[in-house]
Amino acid sequence: MDRFAVLSDIHSNLEALTVVLADIQKRGIETIYCLGDVVGYGPNPKECLDLIIDKTQWCVLGNHDYATLYEPTNFNYPAEQASFWTREVLETEEEKRRSDRRWSFLGSLPMRQSLRIKLGANSAIIDFVHASPRRPVNEYIFPDDVYTNPAKVRLLFERVKHICFVGHTHMPGVFLDEPDFYLPDELGNVYPIIDDEKAIINIGSVGQPRDKDNRASYVYVNENQVHFVRLAYDFETTMEKIMAIEQLDNFHAERLRDGR
Ligand SMILES: [Fe+2]
Repeated sequence: MDRFAVLSDIHSNLEALTVVLADIQKRGIETIYCLGDVVGYGPNPKECLDLIIDKTQWCVLGNHDYATLYEPTNFNYPAEQASFWTREVLETEEEKRRSDRRWSFLGSLPMRQSLRIKLGANSAIIDFVHASPRRPVNEYIFPDDVYTNPAKVRLLFERVKHICFVGHTHMPGVFLDEPDFYLPDELGNVYPIIDDEKAIINIGSVGQPRDKDNRASYVYVNENQVHFVRLAYDFETTMEKIMAIEQLDNFHAERLRDGR
């Protein structure tokens, strides 16, 4: 197995997830890992959970998955409302088998996963978390941190053995331990994993990109190369669904159009 895809932050966006899964299938990639936040903000929590359960090898716990299962922590009001709505939708599933499957999936998500693998001629130790290697569920690592808080980024790198895949900020790019940050564009959308360079790789968000590009984001790894992919999807349909649900704030719809 030297090819796999990694997705994160689906946020109940079925239109985006469908397009991403089709692209992965088209490339013939059979192994998919997920960095969490399957639910929250968006209109299709059941459908997205079912697809992630069926199509991925495993998934780690995101703060919105935690919020749905236990309680929202540090959420603003609209995010909190979306989380309570998501719980209500999952709790009102009539078919017990489906309901049990979704809740037991959410209830058994680990905070991290690790792989030790050969990537072409290189070998890698890869950690997978939702947010950061220090606080796997809740800590934000922003691109600006490399300038405004380099000490924080250096401390985070002390916790990274080699490569760490993260999501959470919905902003894709690569952090190196200088510290430095590179947008996917600046790398020609490819980061080569090499034996003696540590990297924290943010894979962006499938269902709610926030880097001013409204296309769904994910990565796939082929040999030692991490490829950043962006895909246009029918965000207008997702927006309409959100606006038709009273408990979901219209801002969750508008940000899909604007990529923010
Ligand atoms: Fe998220």
